[in-house]
Amino acid sequence: MLFEKSSTRTRVSFEVGMFQLGGHALFLHSGNTQMGRGEPIKDTARVMARYCDGIMIRTYSQASVEEFAEQCYVPVINGLTDLYHPCQIMADLFTVSEHKADYRNLKYCWIGDGNNMANSWINAAAVFGFELRVATPKGYEPNAEVIARAEKAGARLLFSHDPEEAVAGADVLNTDVWASMGQEEEQAQREKAFAGFQINSALVKLADPKCLVMHCLPAHRDEEITDEVMEGPHSIIFDEAENRLHVQKAIMATLMER
Ligand code: CP
Ligand code: NVA
Repeated sequence: MLFEKSSTRTRVSFEVGMFQLGGHALFLHSGNTQMGRGEPIKDTARVMARYCDGIMIRTYSQASVEEFAEQCYVPVINGLTDLYHPCQIMADLFTVSEHKADYRNLKYCWIGDGNNMANSWINAAAVFGFELRVATPKGYEPNAEVIARAEKAGARLLFSHDPEEAVAGADVLNTDVWASMGQEEEQAQREKAFAGFQINSALVKLADPKCLVMHCLPAHRDEEITDEVMEGPHSIIFDEAENRLHVQKAIMATLMER
């Protein structure tokens, strides 16, 4: 496991998951490896492939993961980049499936930043065919290429700058921090831009009465989501966190089982 960024859930779920599967996971932070001294990604990838049965990597740039995977002949798992967070969305959909009969036939709503999580939800909408409504402030929309590719693949996407319109009758509400890792300096500016995009009780009341509320964590309580909603009856946030473990195990077993 190679990390350029911080992590709690991803690191622990992959490490514990690999132990439970009977293997052994190594935690490396790029700053403490020779990558931190400028060893090229492609050299690191080629060496790690010779020691390990698979690599999970969390980086800033999506291009870094892709370059790593090109050079590495063992499976490479994206543990989050600035562009995507696919393992999280797989755990999220598994969590919805535990609470609702047909997770493909629901109305999903993303509220907040058009970030890596939003982009991966858009990819999931293209794969599974569910309706996805995305409400962001102007200027914070998801990646245009990701949207174009998903729409070409038939994704049912609705975009809005009005969270109330987006959540109306929705089955699943989802949000994330307003400033992701690497954007910390924009926090104050983003707090202004995202005012009105908080998941709170008033917003939840506009959704389906049996709606589910999700957040990948870590959360800034009372910023993008209220403490009340996080702890309230619609929240499946801690089931969602738990399922990182089960779903990461499934991903690793699928990719690495011999
Ligand atoms: N949701 C998630 O990926 O959390 P961590 O950053 O703690 O891994
Ligand atoms: N969008 C967040 C997700 C953290 C799991 C980030 O990239 O920091």
